[in-house]
Amino acid sequence: MSDTEVHDVIIVGSGAAGLTAAIALADHCRVLVLAKGNLTGGSTAWAQGGIAAVLDAGDTFDNHIDDTMVAGAGLNRRETVEFVIENAPEAIDRLVKMGVPFNSEKGALHLTREGGHSHRRIVHVDDATGWAVQEALLKTAEAHPNITLMPGQACIDLITGRHEERYSGSGHVWGVYALDEASGKVRAHVGRATILASGGAGRVYQFSTAPRGATGDGIAMAWRAGARVSNMEMMQFHPTCLYNLDVKNFLITEAVRGEGGILRHPVTGYRYMPDYDERLELAPRDIVARANDDQIKRFGLDFVHLDISHQDPEFVKGHFPNIYEKLMSLGIDMTQQPIPVVPAQHYTCGGILIDLNGRTDLPALYAAGECTESGLHGANRLASNSLLECFVFGEAAARDIIANWADLPPPPAIRPWDESRVTDSDEEVVIKQNWTEIRRFMWNYVGIVRSTKRLERAQHRIKMLTDEVGDYYGHFRVTTDLIELRNLLQCADLIVRSALERKESRGLHYTLDYPDLLADARDTVLVP
Ligand code: FAD
Ligand code: SIN
Repeated sequence: MSDTEVHDVIIVGSGAAGLTAAIALADHCRVLVLAKGNLTGGSTAWAQGGIAAVLDAGDTFDNHIDDTMVAGAGLNRRETVEFVIENAPEAIDRLVKMGVPFNSEKGALHLTREGGHSHRRIVHVDDATGWAVQEALLKTAEAHPNITLMPGQACIDLITGRHEERYSGSGHVWGVYALDEASGKVRAHVGRATILASGGAGRVYQFSTAPRGATGDGIAMAWRAGARVSNMEMMQFHPTCLYNLDVKNFLITEAVRGEGGILRHPVTGYRYMPDYDERLELAPRDIVARANDDQIKRFGLDFVHLDISHQDPEFVKGHFPNIYEKLMSLGIDMTQQPIPVVPAQHYTCGGILIDLNGRTDLPALYAAGECTESGLHGANRLASNSLLECFVFGEAAARDIIANWADLPPPPAIRPWDESRVTDSDEEVVIKQNWTEIRRFMWNYVGIVRSTKRLERAQHRIKMLTDEVGDYYGHFRVTTDLIELRNLLQCADLIVRSALERKESRGLHYTLDYPDLLADARDTVLVP
């Protein structure tokens, strides 16, 4: 293979957003989909609860819009919320046609319920919706002759005018430099348009439900190339991640609470949610996560209990077969006993700023899915609105590229990756040490409850580590771990800077120094 590969459109990410875009583009142009690790390594394959859409005659778009805005604490952009929610039934229809085996009952799709939703509106495939969706999208993409799927490619940076053979310095994006993880060689993949669909940055926290690769690579790459990012302080914590010393990031879906699960103090059995919110266990996620955190901190607990053992065992096993099996393998029978749970980072609400066509600030650069801030989630994402956003914006970005194809110039000659001044690393321990350090101080200082002092402490450490990692990056050959560490650090910096800018407590951002809500809801937009 040569140093530079030319395609029509480059997509970074093979999850729900990336594959949706690839499939929508493939009848019009040749698409390359790059993924680090394997093709199912993103959050999509891990999704449990399902996908929100108005499909029941008793439900309305307005209900779903209102629920999304309430959860988002007024920070959502209404235009985006309407756009996504009104396009949801069509997105589900496409998935059904691709063969996603959604659960059904009496000839209609079965709808479950999750926190913050006023109606049952979550379509699902048992408690493993993401896996079924990932499989169907991959099967469709693999069958299309215009789609090339390339796993094992860790993208390092976007290619812009700075990397042209005849330097233009423009912000136009021509593709990505990517490390081939098998050979250790870096190649340029160039095209007329590039779509970042690279997922969230959850792994910046010590405890997260997100997979290993959720290191905010796309957000950091876009930022370094000159695109604005927004609302990075809005990191979502899921209230119920399994507490287990060996299994660190197993989610217990919100649908367990949707189907009657109750949160209790693990020693006294006291049901505490009535003390926090009248919507009880089905209050929006930020409220339930803070309640669990409060109980754990106030009573010096390791975990709280989520109890669904009062429901019929067959009903529980039928609804949550995968969770049931996993817990049984750990010696917990959820039909008979409560499940120990803790809050954990779950979703990145902020990200690369995009418009309704998935366009970023940079010419020919699009973005979709969890790496973006589209205006849908505001200060807190409503459960099961995330996969939906991937389908709607993956499709929207593809449509915009097709509609504007004539205005997207073919790429110029690009300089190959320069390795002349680096050597192989002799101190891998630096990467491991820094990675662990970032995740720990982000959890302790920039977690569910923040303060200005804690944020400043985190900022101080980020500055020191940025020098150290920058020095390391400048001297040694890239590896996936180094690429990810550099991006984690970049995202940590963006989160802390955004958190320091917000002088109020809104949605997911709760700070002891500014506990009140300001009258004016404003995005935190950072400009490179
Ligand atoms: P992902 O699916 O995360 O895919 C990212 C892709 O980018 C991967 O292919 C990865 O390899 C690639 N990538 C990243 N960096 C690079 C790089 N540098 N180079 C090359 N490739 C790269 N949402 C819901 O709506 N409903 C749910 O029920 C639900 N349950 C969830 C359960 C869990 C445990 C988790 C963690 C999340 C859940 N979510 C749910 C959230 C939802 O799954 C994600 O937000 C969504 O799947 C993100 O899709 P995506 O396409 O944006 O990114
Ligand atoms: C869950 O199943 O609880 C996760 C749903 C989501 O993240 O939207």
